[in-house]
Amino acid sequence: MKAIILSGGKGTRLRPLTYTGAKQLVPVANKPILWYGIEAIVAAGITDIGIIISPETGEEVKAKTGDGDRFGAKITYILQDAPLGLAHAVKVAQPFLEDSPFLMYLGDNLIQSDLRLFLEHFQTASLDALIMLREVANPTAFGVAKLDESGRVLQLVEKPKIPPSNLALVGIYLFSHIVHQAIANIAPSARGELEITDAIQYLIDGPKNVEARQLEGWWLDTGKKDDLLEANRLILDSCPDCNILGEVDENSQVIGRVQIGANSRIVNSTIRGPVIIGNNCHLENCFIGPYTSIADGVTAIDTDIEHSVILQGAKVIGIHQRIVDSVIGQRVQLKVAPQRPKALRFLIGDDSQIELV
Ligand code: G1P
Repeated sequence: MKAIILSGGKGTRLRPLTYTGAKQLVPVANKPILWYGIEAIVAAGITDIGIIISPETGEEVKAKTGDGDRFGAKITYILQDAPLGLAHAVKVAQPFLEDSPFLMYLGDNLIQSDLRLFLEHFQTASLDALIMLREVANPTAFGVAKLDESGRVLQLVEKPKIPPSNLALVGIYLFSHIVHQAIANIAPSARGELEITDAIQYLIDGPKNVEARQLEGWWLDTGKKDDLLEANRLILDSCPDCNILGEVDENSQVIGRVQIGANSRIVNSTIRGPVIIGNNCHLENCFIGPYTSIADGVTAIDTDIEHSVILQGAKVIGIHQRIVDSVIGQRVQLKVAPQRPKALRFLIGDDSQIELV
């Protein structure tokens, strides 16, 4: 059994963060989203993993993630020259996959369930495809499945205008080598992509052995800011560790599940978990509230932050209105003068969003 993780794409819905990096490397609880997928795959017993990368962000994904040693896996990087669809990515990966059955994982998906249950069923039932479904409120944004009364998949449609159900396709699939034949027989869709949903439909019509399982527990496609914050909340909620390596002075209070990295200093501040703070941070006169992740090298002074993700090297100074539901990019500087400010001065990247509410 092998696995491929798709880690290309432009990440348009996470701009401006994705102008300077891959969406799959944006951290959730101080760890790149992509790494949760790798860990889940390794935990299911698959260690031969291909990561599909794009020319734009591939080198960064490679440099950050490495050869797989840190995960106990062997990672092979596979370049997809252009974003021509999920089924196109499988085609590009065929020399790596050979005739092996495989798990395909979209690198910006996060799920709570254990992949082992799906894998065991796929193997014992000798399936050609096993897909995972989840009820969603906005099916038009996903691939959608129509099932019969017994739960058999009849039809799959990609981003339908009139959805046949509210069951979305989760971005995690299991396939036998037969899927390569299906992909060789489908044509690009109206948006010019080789769709994996069309390949699965080809298998259904075959008829080949295709089954669907409904996913329990949470599922997030972290392509947008609010999903990213929700992923951060769920991961921080499920992370039991309380590990304080940095220095907390006697005027500070640390409450609940809090991790503080090495060489970080907390001065005259309250940290209310669940919170994760990276290495080499300086937090002074701050309230850091629940569900906040602060990456390495962040400075925050005279500031209140809650339910937010602050990326590496950011500086946030003098903001007494509570910062909530925010994602602050790498090396961003936010500063309010101690006296009542008379003017607002900005240097803000394209597609940034600032709301003074
Ligand atoms: C892709 C798939 C879609 C699936 C979704 C899950 O969409 O094409 O069928 O429901 O992933 O994350 P995309 O995220 O590329 O729009």
